[in-house]
Amino acid sequence: MPENGPVESGPALENLLVEERTFPPSPEFAAAAVASADLYEQASADRLGFWADQARELLDWDTAFTEVLDFSDAPRARWFADGTLNAAFNAVDRHVAAGLGERVAIHWEGENGDTRTLTYADLQREISRAANVLGDLGVSTGDRVAIYLPMIPEAVIAMLACARIGAPHSVVFGGFSAEALHSRIVDAEAKLVITADGGYRRGAPSALKPAVDEALAKGGTPVEHVLVVRRTGQEVAWTDDRDVWWHESVDAASETHAPVAVDAEHPLFILYTSGTTGKPKGIFHTTGGYLTQSAYTHRNVFDLHPETDVYWCTADIGWVTGHTYVTYGPLVNGATQVMYEGTPDTPHRGRWWEIVQKYGVTILYTAPTAIRTCMKWGGDIPAQFDLSSLRVLGSVGEPINPEAWMWYRRVIGGDRTPVVDTWWQTETGAIMISPLPGVTAAKPGSAQVPLPGIVADVLDDAGKSVPNGSGGYLVLTEPWPSMLRGIWGDEERFRETYWSRFPGSYFAGDGAKKDADGDIWLLGRVDDVMNVSGHRLSTTEIESALVSHPWVAEAAVVGAQDATTGQAVVAFVILRAEAVEKADEEGEGHDVVAELRNHVAKEIGPIAKPRSILVVAELPKTRSGKIMRRLLRDVAEHRQVGDVTTLADTSVMDLIATGLATAP
Ligand code: WTA
Repeated sequence: MPENGPVESGPALENLLVEERTFPPSPEFAAAAVASADLYEQASADRLGFWADQARELLDWDTAFTEVLDFSDAPRARWFADGTLNAAFNAVDRHVAAGLGERVAIHWEGENGDTRTLTYADLQREISRAANVLGDLGVSTGDRVAIYLPMIPEAVIAMLACARIGAPHSVVFGGFSAEALHSRIVDAEAKLVITADGGYRRGAPSALKPAVDEALAKGGTPVEHVLVVRRTGQEVAWTDDRDVWWHESVDAASETHAPVAVDAEHPLFILYTSGTTGKPKGIFHTTGGYLTQSAYTHRNVFDLHPETDVYWCTADIGWVTGHTYVTYGPLVNGATQVMYEGTPDTPHRGRWWEIVQKYGVTILYTAPTAIRTCMKWGGDIPAQFDLSSLRVLGSVGEPINPEAWMWYRRVIGGDRTPVVDTWWQTETGAIMISPLPGVTAAKPGSAQVPLPGIVADVLDDAGKSVPNGSGGYLVLTEPWPSMLRGIWGDEERFRETYWSRFPGSYFAGDGAKKDADGDIWLLGRVDDVMNVSGHRLSTTEIESALVSHPWVAEAAVVGAQDATTGQAVVAFVILRAEAVEKADEEGEGHDVVAELRNHVAKEIGPIAKPRSILVVAELPKTRSGKIMRRLLRDVAEHRQVGDVTTLADTSVMDLIATGLATAP
């Protein structure tokens, strides 16, 4: 099935919001803001010159670049291509050299109450040591390293140690299974895995190393060593000539290391994300352009004043938000940030607000799903803490409904803080569409306008720009510095997925609407990608996981609306009767739903577990055999089932409805 097959018109595109409220910045905020309206003018007068200025101002280059953009081999872009630089040097060493070594880089808060404070000088030492160990373990410039760690300082240190020697990292979210880790290690041909014994989650140690052992036991990987951080002290299995303790090797290594200057277009990292087929895409980013846009957006969108702000992004480093807005953006800008290991409700539901109070957090960046969860828990919980230090709030990962936006501003921001709703993707590398807090009059629920230097549009089916008041597909019509440079090892899929639907433009896969003022409202995915709690999941990937179970003959998965998680995974399965009966006879029992939910967790990870699984006799298909997920979504969302006339067999929906009605 082509990735850009016909797009089903979901309810998203019909979602026409009318929002009258606006929140202009206070005059005091605007006067002290980093960004001003001039940025828009400068960028539109000379877009490439604008980006060149940002790259020169925000980064230190080993070799100055003379070229800005080469897009002659589109869609392959090359930014600042004749320049050279090092990402770790930019994130750490230059701040130390500028006399800021004693500034706190990371206030780390473990879930179990442990804390650590790392200054920029501390980071420089630790990263240098780790880089020396990577070299000792045979990793050199260009080799790939997989990182599978909890939210501990070593996660940032490991990423930057890789960057220091020019070894692209591939961070795999700690919640992914051994199976998912294996396929990512194989695809990137990683030579080394950096992991931990475990991390703390929901009040208890949660093991990580066993998943690495299981992934490597499957074979077919070029992994030579596993570097293991001791975090929880739990028992681990050990493979003597392969496994190396971090505390034994890194702590003993030399604390000086010369960063390797790489070409601006040298790959910095690969990050896997879900697409519309079963196989995750290895999105890869390069060094110069990515760092430029990371630093630029972090500074302007969050109004960063590095001398005084305490910034906190709650994302895990396993996602792109953790890459750009925990590791790279804040450190390149010399910010002081909070990093938290665990869940928001451990040991109590006020944990986040306690952290804000404790460290005097001024800028908070989180996801709508977290905000909605806090709303559900009630405003009296944050009210018990002093949140008056907060001055900018950010949202990312999924559309934020206006009510959640208002609650965020009122209850967390004391009705005083700007809220920035930031639209971007793993592929875009950094924020693309967002208000600027000192400039834009914010509208609850809208990401509003492309940032200075970014050009976006909303197109109709025929590729024509829609007028204000209409909806269509979001595209980016000009290349941007932090754009993906490709899908690792799959040029064809890169072209097909992003560049074939609207020739010359990047197709984001999101529906969007322009309101009467031309502000952009994001309306959710228009392809087979779901967004559950701000995490991207592929319907096809979960379907593949389900049909890999011997009991399942066929499966269809949809993302159904969910009040807290945005969307929830709902699966429809046709069972193989004999297989289930056989399992029954052999005394395995057959709690089909529990069995299949666990199977998905094992194949992909607990985040992909379906909220509900419905056993059906048939699935609705078109005459060409394509599953009509739109109809299944109607069922999953308890709606009247829509138009069934294109079904090969129109009685199928009755069968599903009757089946559900009579299900136990
Ligand atoms: C969605 C996360 C609406 C969107 C940074 C996009 C959003 C996908 C927003 C990318 C937002 C992200 N408003 N939708 N502010 N931010 N999205 O790659 O559907 O994990 O395509 O990157 O999340 O998810 P990804």
